[in-house]
Amino acid sequence: MNDKFANKVAVVTGGSTGIGFSIAEALITQGAKRVYITGRSETSLTRAVTALGSAAIAVVSDVVNLRDIQQLRELIENNDDQLDVVFANAGICEKRVFGETTEQDFDRTFDINVKGVFFTVQTLLPLIKDGASVILTSSICSSNGMLELGAYNASKAAVRSFARTWANELRGRKIRVNALSPGFTRTPLMENSLKLNQQQIDELADWAAQTVPLGYMAQPEEIASAALFLASDDAKYVNGIELTVDGGISQI
Ligand SMILES: NC(=O)c1ccc[n+]([C@@H]2O[C@H](COP(=O)([O-])OP(=O)(O)OC[C@H]3O[C@@H](n4cnc5c(N)ncnc54)[C@H](OP(=O)(O)O)[C@@H]3O)[C@@H](O)[C@H]2O)c1
Repeated sequence: MNDKFANKVAVVTGGSTGIGFSIAEALITQGAKRVYITGRSETSLTRAVTALGSAAIAVVSDVVNLRDIQQLRELIENNDDQLDVVFANAGICEKRVFGETTEQDFDRTFDINVKGVFFTVQTLLPLIKDGASVILTSSICSSNGMLELGAYNASKAAVRSFARTWANELRGRKIRVNALSPGFTRTPLMENSLKLNQQQIDELADWAAQTVPLGYMAQPEEIASAALFLASDDAKYVNGIELTVDGGISQI
């Protein structure tokens, strides 16, 4: 254990499960004073704060709903907190065949993955300290054409684009903005969002064992450690990049 995040205050959207939960856990292990985690399900958030302890504050907040994001901001303000790190991480990944995708399917993906990231960071901006770090969870899908994920792939390309623009636009405040692009990672997204059953998850794991250069699907903790690198002073000259954390799959 180290105390790289001692006295730091962070927000992790989508912090109730998966990668976001692991990020919150790692921040607290490394000394963070307060970590606001958000999600839509109160049950998942309650389970998460029970595991994370009193440094975690659960906030039921849908990134699609601007009022919810504003309420998150007001809660942080009322606690007299300012933000050292923001992880705009909440996202969904739904498979849809091109030709059969409805307007609602398309809008759901873009509302959560793109609009949600945009308005989370924009709304929290006044609370983000000068010199702070913002990390946007993109995906290796931001630059590939994975089948039946057209809307998702495009949404993650938009997120990657935000990191470039905001790194430029926030230069006056020395706020670093980077994109984090995980590869295949074993999280509840596989059941809840991709709607894979156990057999399909096992097949994906077998495929990863054969295809990913490191020979397995990531655990969320392995993505979180890269996310914390971007958030930390170790990355103090790293700005506007996409850090791919995928066991090498997108390099071959
Ligand atoms: N797992 C992978 O292989 C992989 C690969 C590349 C990128 N990613 C990206 O990593 C991020 C985290 O995914 P994960 O794999 O950790 O999935 P996960 O376990 O399903 O976590 C998603 C988190 O986002 C929250 N969330 C979803 N929609 C939300 C909304 N509208 N408002 C607020 N919170 C919302 C979920 O809580 P509620 O459902 O309760 O709202 C949950 O906390 C996503 O952006 C995903 O696209 C994942």
